[in-house]
Amino acid sequence: MEFFDYFSQLYGDRWPALLEALKGEGNAVRLQFGESLEPYFLDEASVFAAKSLAVEPGMDVLDMCAAPGGKSLVIASMLQGEGSLQSNDRSPDRRLRLTHVLENSLPASWLGIVKVTGYDGVKFGLHKKESYDRILLDAPCSSDRHVLNSPAHLEVWSAKRVKRLSVEQGALLASAVDALRPGGVLVYGTCALSPLENDKVVEKILKKRPAMRVEPIEEIPPGADRTEFGVHVLPDTSEGRGPIYCAKLTKF
Ligand SMILES: C[S@@+](CC[C@H](N)C(=O)[O-])C[C@H]1O[C@@H](n2cnc3c(N)ncnc32)[C@H](O)[C@@H]1O
Repeated sequence: MEFFDYFSQLYGDRWPALLEALKGEGNAVRLQFGESLEPYFLDEASVFAAKSLAVEPGMDVLDMCAAPGGKSLVIASMLQGEGSLQSNDRSPDRRLRLTHVLENSLPASWLGIVKVTGYDGVKFGLHKKESYDRILLDAPCSSDRHVLNSPAHLEVWSAKRVKRLSVEQGALLASAVDALRPGGVLVYGTCALSPLENDKVVEKILKKRPAMRVEPIEEIPPGADRTEFGVHVLPDTSEGRGPIYCAKLTKF
């Protein structure tokens, strides 16, 4: 099957162990911000990706592709009710879930600065030029762990789709870069296994937007791999966490 051949070629000797780990349990942590509030379970690697954005109270933050909302919860907890968080997602159905998650899991004083919107992410660069101190682009991706565990998705997986997604990711990343204030920080992330959706997307933006620089992420989860531009957390070596790729970029 195409999926298995593609990743077996890409990962070589590592693939059998990685495949087993991808089929196994994840490594979720419980986020709960008050006794009467709903807990939310999020992969520890996703918490790491959101935290690497280095958000501080008072900042203006955009979570460009935010639903169902796990990483927005982490960002809101870093803002502590000061500044602003725009949690955006283009899909109406997923936005409903996002609103539910934010309303049920955040204390009122933190929720007050959060706004949910439904724009196409590629529009931010044009309409919200240099407007945010921090941007998280957790891009739509192949979601390979999900694909592997869903026969219907496995059936329609193709290398062509990976390429198509990487083009879409590049357009979203260019928009995020343009919406970022000078001096701001952007984290680009996916839960994909292929470098085409990860480092390659970052490599292209560095060529297209010379004001952007890669910033090393200092603290990374145990067993995570450093790649050319970012960090890849994979479940075979990182105690079930991931897959999560993230790269941190700053604008000069
Ligand atoms: C990987 S998921 C985001 C997960 C989310 N950050 C979290 O932690 O819960 C990607 C999201 O991007 C949204 N999306 C896809 N294309 C988009 C676009 N062009 N503009 C905005 N959102 C988009 C999808 O609806 C999906 O909810």
